[in-house]
Amino acid sequence: MSKRGSLILIEGLDRTGKSTQADLIVNEFENAGKKVELIKFPDRTTEIGKLINQFLVDKNFNLPKESIHLLFSANRWELKSQLLEKLLQGVNLIMDRYYYSGIAYSTANGLDFDWCKSPDIGLPKPDLVLFLTFKDNENVNKLKNRENYGEERYEITEFQQEVKKNFETFFNKEEKQRLQSSNSKADFEIVYVDNKTIEEVKTDVLGLVKKFIEVDNTNPVEYFQ
Ligand code: TMP
Repeated sequence: MSKRGSLILIEGLDRTGKSTQADLIVNEFENAGKKVELIKFPDRTTEIGKLINQFLVDKNFNLPKESIHLLFSANRWELKSQLLEKLLQGVNLIMDRYYYSGIAYSTANGLDFDWCKSPDIGLPKPDLVLFLTFKDNENVNKLKNRENYGEERYEITEFQQEVKKNFETFFNKEEKQRLQSSNSKADFEIVYVDNKTIEEVKTDVLGLVKKFIEVDNTNPVEYFQ
């Protein structure tokens, strides 16, 4: 079977260091001569991405919660063929947010779980999902002390607590389903970042990601169902 790149997703709450870790991993593997690229969602550069960006930074730009959910999903569909093309060319993709953020944030906004999942059915499913989070809920409350916290729409402590709960419920559900299904190879891991330095989190993340990049991936790409 032909080789392809792996799709590795880093998910988590705002300000858990996802983007920092995604950059570090890309650099690490690039320096080791591997084919690896960073993909970030939302991609704020596309036409749909520009609307999403306006919604996030301008609290007076209001949209129904269903509409913004569909826009986030549409933004992922805009990049689907590009993602697949790169994977099939053997490029490993490190993604900063995707489907799981879409569902955890929109259900925190009060939308129905199954309704939220449906627009993403058919998008490529990651081989590995890492969930960066705080073990201690109190550390979510401390986010408000960070510089510039609160500038974007969802940077509100109570909302982040709800997102954390929804991510956890969602990951438990997915993990249960994965264990029951004999044909899915997708893997989920939780990385706690409480009181850890960037280097310490990087060591944890690299340990989990390594085998997906260093060992040839011959599994067919899976899709959300
Ligand atoms: P960012 O800070 O990683 O750029 O993400 C922007 C915000 O958008 C963040 O608060 C999470 C939120 N989000 C959603 O609500 N739905 C989605 O589908 C995605 C990808 C992000």
